[in-house]
Amino acid sequence: MAAFASALLLLPLPPAAAHPQQRQLRSREQRQGCRSRRYSKVVAYYGLTTPPYKLDALEPYISKRTVELHWGKHHQDYVDRLNKQLATSMFYGYTMEELIKEAYNNGNPLPEYNNAAQVWNHHFFWESMQPEGGGSPEGGVLQQIEKDFGSFTNFREEFIRSALSLLGSGWVWLALKRKERKLSVVHTQNAISPLALGDIPIINLDLWEHAYYLDYKAVIISFKLFRKAAFETSQRIRVLRVNLDQR
Ligand SMILES: [Fe+2]
Repeated sequence: MAAFASALLLLPLPPAAAHPQQRQLRSREQRQGCRSRRYSKVVAYYGLTTPPYKLDALEPYISKRTVELHWGKHHQDYVDRLNKQLATSMFYGYTMEELIKEAYNNGNPLPEYNNAAQVWNHHFFWESMQPEGGGSPEGGVLQQIEKDFGSFTNFREEFIRSALSLLGSGWVWLALKRKERKLSVVHTQNAISPLALGDIPIINLDLWEHAYYLDYKAVIISFKLFRKAAFETSQRIRVLRVNLDQR
C-alpha cells in the first residue's frame, strides 16, 4: 500500500490551462519577482503507476498487447476519470485508501468509488504478479495458508474455483479477514475491493474481460505469475504478519 504514495502526484496547475489574460498576469508577476496565488497553488491528483516489469515480461501467459491495452488504456482511463472527479469532489486530498473506504459509503457507493477502487485494484494487480513468479510462499504466510486452507494446494484450488465461478466482471482475492482473523479467498463484483470492506488484500486477479480476451477465450489462471516476493517481503505481508503475530 505504501507503494501507492508514488501514484499521488503533486502537480502545479498546467500553464496551458490558463486563460491568456492569466498568462499575462503570471508573466508580469514573475517579472516583478512574485507569483500569483493561482500559480502557487499545488493540487494533488493521481498518476498512472508503471508495472514493475517490462510490458512483455508476463508472456507467454499475458501478452504485451494485452498489457498495453489493459494498463495503457483501461487503467489509464480509470486514473483520468478519477482525477476529473476529484477536481470538484469532497474527496480531494484523501489518500487512496481513505477515499475507497469513505466513497464505498457502507455499500451505497458514491460516484468516485468505482474509479478510485479500479485505480487501486489495477495497481495491486500489477504488483501481484512478476516474471518468474509462482511457487509456494514461505514462512509465516505459508503456515497461515496451511492453517486456514489445509494446504497450499487447497488454497490454489479454491482460488481457481472462485475465479471460475464469478459471473460477469470482478476480481478474485486472497485477503485477510480482520474480524475472523483468517485468510480467505473471495471474489467481488465490478470494482468492489476488500479494502472497502475493512479487510486486507494479499493478492488479486482481474476477471474483467479486458484482462484476458485478447489472449484467451475464457479465464485462464496461471499461478506462475503470482509474485512470490509478495508472499515474503512486501509491506502488505508485513502488515499481515503483524496481525497474525497478535493472535
Ligand atoms: Fe482490468
